[in-house]
Amino acid sequence: MCGIIGYIGDKKASEVLISGLSHLEYRGYDSSGVALMKGNRVEIYKAEGKLKNLVEILKTKPDICNSTHIGIGHIRWATHGLPTTINAHPHTCNCKNLTLVHNGIIENYQELKEELSALGCTFQSQTDTEVAAHLIAREYGKTKNLLRAMQAATKKIKGAFAFCAIHKNEPDKIVIAKRNAPLIVGIGEGENFIASDIPAIIEYTKKAIYLSDYQVGVVKKNSVEIYDENDNLIKNKIEFLPFEAATISKLGYKHFMLKEIHEQGDVIRNVLSGKLISNKEKINLENFKLTQTEIKNIKRVQIIACGTSLHAGLVGKYIMEKFAQIPVDVEASSEYIYRDTIADENTLTIGISQSGETADTITAIKQVKEKNSHIAIITNRADSTMARLADSLLPISAGIEVSVAATKSYMAQLISLYLLAFYLAEQKGITTKDSEIIKLKQELIELPNKVEALLEDSSTTKIKEIAKKYSSFKDFIFIARGINLPTALEGALKLKEISYINATGYGAGELKHGPIAMLDNNMPVLAILNTGVVYDKVLSNCEEARARQARLIGVTNKIERKDKDLFEDLIIIPSVSDLISPALNIVVLQLLAYYIAEYLGKDVDQPRNLAKSVTVE
Ligand code: AGP
Ligand code: GLU
Repeated sequence: MCGIIGYIGDKKASEVLISGLSHLEYRGYDSSGVALMKGNRVEIYKAEGKLKNLVEILKTKPDICNSTHIGIGHIRWATHGLPTTINAHPHTCNCKNLTLVHNGIIENYQELKEELSALGCTFQSQTDTEVAAHLIAREYGKTKNLLRAMQAATKKIKGAFAFCAIHKNEPDKIVIAKRNAPLIVGIGEGENFIASDIPAIIEYTKKAIYLSDYQVGVVKKNSVEIYDENDNLIKNKIEFLPFEAATISKLGYKHFMLKEIHEQGDVIRNVLSGKLISNKEKINLENFKLTQTEIKNIKRVQIIACGTSLHAGLVGKYIMEKFAQIPVDVEASSEYIYRDTIADENTLTIGISQSGETADTITAIKQVKEKNSHIAIITNRADSTMARLADSLLPISAGIEVSVAATKSYMAQLISLYLLAFYLAEQKGITTKDSEIIKLKQELIELPNKVEALLEDSSTTKIKEIAKKYSSFKDFIFIARGINLPTALEGALKLKEISYINATGYGAGELKHGPIAMLDNNMPVLAILNTGVVYDKVLSNCEEARARQARLIGVTNKIERKDKDLFEDLIIIPSVSDLISPALNIVVLQLLAYYIAEYLGKDVDQPRNLAKSVTVE
């Protein structure tokens, strides 16, 4: 993970770097650092913990901060070595002429470290990154040319990296390199920027070059030169960046997570726009590139994703199997990539990723692509690495999601999967499902208003009360069956991510096969019950839990008066069919997790140990 930033121009470099890093905090936030270069002098400042600690240090260095116009910076999510000041980037070689920031993992760092140690290099940190600093410096000794040194060193490095390096002997440039980690160069007038992601530079420029793997570049104040792995100078392809600076603000909400939860009505409208015109018309998915005949030939779908996106995929499986009548496997990317997996041209592979940069999912997609499977990518970042691998790119356009805990992107993924399932069914001509699909399409059209009703104060007050009441519990169980089992998994994930309460989601029917042993009156059990095929079954499972004195919380769209007493607390959602209910139930669970974490005073938007974009395997 980690975020890297570089600046060269006339502005105060420290300000650009800190502003950029503040917008990259979602990628990591255990320590940070900058290197500021003036002539052949380089000053490095680092701090453990949040970026604000670095900001405090820089406030005490006005002279250097006010007079330097070239610099590199880093915000870290440690992979190798504790999140300490020594391990924070930038790192240098022993003579301190070369300074480097890195995003990624150097897989052969132990071997390289041994070789470099034998040559006399001494290491200050436990990071893999420091090895690269020494390696590039040694190569520099041979050619006295930073670009050449970077080219030679990166050929010896195995693993993933985005590098920004500066050298005291070449004070007019920043040299960069990329392999399997994102890197863009923002183009300005008499200034240029380097960053891991768009939000870091969007307030300064809307034009950028996306580096490809194995490319290296030289960024100067008035020029950018990019070379491919054979040292050919590439013609720069400048692209327009898709975000407005204004989208990265809390708009009065206490946290980005709360703001993003509240945006979900509009997010649904956005996903539906142009694709679902009316319940009588067929779904319009012009970005889906398979022909009708090719769709009819699909024998199997595999959905590959991680975390919250994986949970969206599980809902997708349910509706796709039901309506498109194709077998669907849902796989965690991190497990998929180290197996002998099966796919061919009649397999449709759907990669789901908010960021489009999750390393495990990218690796899995690359593996499948080689087997000629059609790759559809559902992502919030149409400019991402994964989007660039897509045969069919299905952007969810939920707007930038800042909070590490995914909320609105999950909603947009769900809606996209409903549309895709109905589209596949319609293209296959499965007429037996027509009337049900027409009804569900109408429900999707009405869904934004229902989500907004759920977000009104009258509903959230009840959720806040429940959050306060249960915030002191150390464990939580979420149960559901059928299409809401993924909702239970996602609700539990949200709670653990931001409150650190040990929460687990189970299929309600599985409770009796083991987890029921944990139940007593110290165990809150949140049950999701919607009118539909499994309602009575979940109710029986609730009875079983209650008989073991569990503290039952029900989330439901309808409850018989006689059943109410079973629950200690009840949250009633607007009327909705079982098949669409995951999109409403999850809003309740997002709010519950949010208010519990907020009540406990946790760092909601930046929970410990996590990063939003998991760009390392
Ligand atoms: C979501 O709340 C999590 N932070 C995490 O599980 C996330 O969903 C996962 O890392 C996958 O990310 P992606 O959607 O960007 O690929
Ligand atoms: N491997 C480097 C470190 O641990 C960079 C980490 C990353 O990019 O996630 O410092």
